[in-house]
Amino acid sequence: MKRICVAIDGPAAAGKSTISKIVAKKLGFTYIDTGAMYRAFTYYVIKKGVDPKDEKASCALIPEVNIELHKDGTVICSGEDVTKVIREPLVSGNVSYIASYKDIRLALVEQQRAMSKRVSVVMDGRDIGTYVLPHAEVKIFMIASAEERAHRRFIENQEKGIPTTLEDIIADVKKRDTIDSTRAFAPLKPADDSILLDTTKLTIDEVVEEVMKIIKEKTE
Ligand code: DC
Repeated sequence: MKRICVAIDGPAAAGKSTISKIVAKKLGFTYIDTGAMYRAFTYYVIKKGVDPKDEKASCALIPEVNIELHKDGTVICSGEDVTKVIREPLVSGNVSYIASYKDIRLALVEQQRAMSKRVSVVMDGRDIGTYVLPHAEVKIFMIASAEERAHRRFIENQEKGIPTTLEDIIADVKKRDTIDSTRAFAPLKPADDSILLDTTKLTIDEVVEEVMKIIKEKTE
């Protein structure tokens, strides 16, 4: 079978990773969570005592950072299992700064492109359809209202035992949307040939069904 790339972009907490994981499993494709890579880098910067707002000092760490995404969802950063810690508020609140630095993006994008050359992938992020995989067979831009997205993330955090308040999440989601969509290099925006999918009023099953339909139409 021909190798297929499915690009799923959209703002923070629009449901991209939940849906991408399920769809990838159904299709036997590899799921690549590019947000986890920016989060792992951010964690490493903080761990090293570097201010994530300091571009030069953060970029200087590029040669030391080695990120592995495992099939079971485990994220390893330079030998440390960071799967859980990268979802914590300290990382969420700083990741947009790290993701706005061009040199860090170029290093991580190179890895993302290399992964997509080997197998069929469902890759989720912000710039997958516009920059990382501009020739992806399927491009979906997933949106939902900021309140709905914050509410979903709040429930998710509660399930994972991560302490946060709904108000803090709404503020974080809005702040990240602004930084992600106004940065100079590869900002969050729909690709011209992407399909817009508003998930605000849809259940997970309904979104999965819609995405599967789009993939079928685009690849047949
Ligand atoms: O999807 P997420 O919330 O885990 O992403 C974390 C941050 O990383 C998000 O604020 C934007 C950034 N990001 C990005 O700039 N480009 C990507 N391809 C993926 C994530």
